[in-house]
Amino acid sequence: MRERTFVMLKPDAVKRKLIGRIIQRFEDKGLEIVEMKMLKMSRELAEKLYEEHRGKDFFEKLINFITSGRVVAMVIEGEEAISVVRKMVGKTNPLEADMGTIRGDFGYSTPDNLVHASDSRESARREIELFFGR
Ligand code: CMP
Repeated sequence: MRERTFVMLKPDAVKRKLIGRIIQRFEDKGLEIVEMKMLKMSRELAEKLYEEHRGKDFFEKLINFITSGRVVAMVIEGEEAISVVRKMVGKTNPLEADMGTIRGDFGYSTPDNLVHASDSRESARREIELFFGR
């Protein structure tokens, strides 16, 4: 089924000048980028995006990192886009992510693991609404 998912290239991807190469992978796969913008997230927006992690020991570090520089927010569309994009992104910890995935190929630590991607239809709907208001 054709789906939309929310993808965000994190400040480390922007600082390391990897955004072109990462976006290329999604396009090469056949996925379509239907919305895209660059922004610096406010603390308020960051806390909303990562609401489910509030209270965890890495929460503060995560919020500080994600608000430390510009991010690229996107809506990506395609068949089974949510699971396909998650597969392409790889496991949360880049040390465990398979080679061939974005985190496996470019990442080495957390929270700076380059990319965020929605994990379910419900998250995708919520995150697209948060960033694009629709
Ligand atoms: P993301 O897929 O955006 O979802 C939550 C984020 O929290 C995750 O990517 C990492 O950036 C960060 N994160 C998850 N686990 C840890 C951890 N153990 N230490 C630091 N950051 C983490």
